[in-house]
Amino acid sequence: MSYVIGVDLGTSAVKTVLVDRSGKVVAEHSESYPLSQPKPGFSEQRPEDWVEKTLLSLKRLMEDTAIEPAEIEGLSFSGQMHGLVLLNEEGKVLRPAILWNDTRTTEQCRRIEKTLGGDLLRIARNRALEGFTLPKILWVQEHEPELFQQAAVFVLPKDYVRYRLTGKLDMDYSDAAGTLLLDVTGKAWSPDILDAFELPHSICPSLVESFDLCGTLLPEIAEQSGLLSETKVFAGGADNACGAIGAGILAAGQTMCSVGTSGVVLAYEERKDVDFEGKVHFFNHGEKDAYYIMGVTLAAGYSLEWFKRTFAPDVSFGELLGGIGDIPAGSGGLLFTPYIVGERTPHPDANIRGSFIGIDASHKLPHFARSVLEGITFSLRESIDILRASGSTIDSVISIGGGAKNADWLDAGRYI
Ligand code: XUL
Repeated sequence: MSYVIGVDLGTSAVKTVLVDRSGKVVAEHSESYPLSQPKPGFSEQRPEDWVEKTLLSLKRLMEDTAIEPAEIEGLSFSGQMHGLVLLNEEGKVLRPAILWNDTRTTEQCRRIEKTLGGDLLRIARNRALEGFTLPKILWVQEHEPELFQQAAVFVLPKDYVRYRLTGKLDMDYSDAAGTLLLDVTGKAWSPDILDAFELPHSICPSLVESFDLCGTLLPEIAEQSGLLSETKVFAGGADNACGAIGAGILAAGQTMCSVGTSGVVLAYEERKDVDFEGKVHFFNHGEKDAYYIMGVTLAAGYSLEWFKRTFAPDVSFGELLGGIGDIPAGSGGLLFTPYIVGERTPHPDANIRGSFIGIDASHKLPHFARSVLEGITFSLRESIDILRASGSTIDSVISIGGGAKNADWLDAGRYI
């Protein structure tokens, strides 16, 4: 038999899955790592944690099965998007990675808009949002100039892990699309954008397709992971692009909702010449020369995790959500807005904040838990409205991610 391994480098954990030729998941394993928030709006991780935990997860995955390492045809990645990893000439990490949900870069976003004007939407096809990579690069350039001078190249989270596994530096189009440095439909780094911010062209790694072979495992990595050094390593893609491929979003009219730390509504998009005016994200898909549009709720699963950690730390998620099916839709008038780390869609505003509104004395913990799920769901609904207003036909939505595991939550989706 032959198998492949998928590595999903998420925000809270790395998940590895071993899949057989029929697409059946034979084994899976997950290892978590911390998220550091040294100041309000800051969100960082140690790239070394990703590497250590990926290797550990691969090792455990192989130990959990009786499968011979020679039966593994190859491995590939799906990764949290936009996170900035800066490397020096020797390929060493210069500072903690600045993640997709970090909102420190509002000033840099305004500078990008002012400098590029209409070229931003014409070339990068997206508006300047705090989560994207170029604002992060400019933040380091402005706030840590000495460190920035040592920067030779930047990569995104899963590209860094792939680099450590193979020794080869690349970035695929689906992830490069979220940097604001890519000419999205021209499929090349934009010299105009790089020059506008005096960034050396060499700071960008080589571009590859998600399905391209990037290399094989370095011998020491093979030993640590329980795999062979002949194991092929493919580029992989942005987590949302990969999730969409897994959910079969490969033709116009197909839409996915994914709830992980963030929540997204994503629709396959054939109209690459339409100007979406930055109202939705417009990115390269993992499939060759394909595109998708997307709206993002920054704190979806994260709102629920925050709520449990803050108000119900001693119960399990199952216990917390156990009672919500008994509460009628609307949570007895209690409303939650999930803007606890700012928001992207429909309010591109790093300073907007979450709220509970309409609390009355009859409300108990399950009302609050239900209103958190409803608030997240309605935020996703606002993305659906924007996608529809952009011309997408949305008749059905395929749900994936942690959010798809809760039947009451899926049911709440019916009301939108
Ligand atoms: C998408 C985004 C998030 C991350 C989460 O633009 O920022 O969905 O990809 O991993």
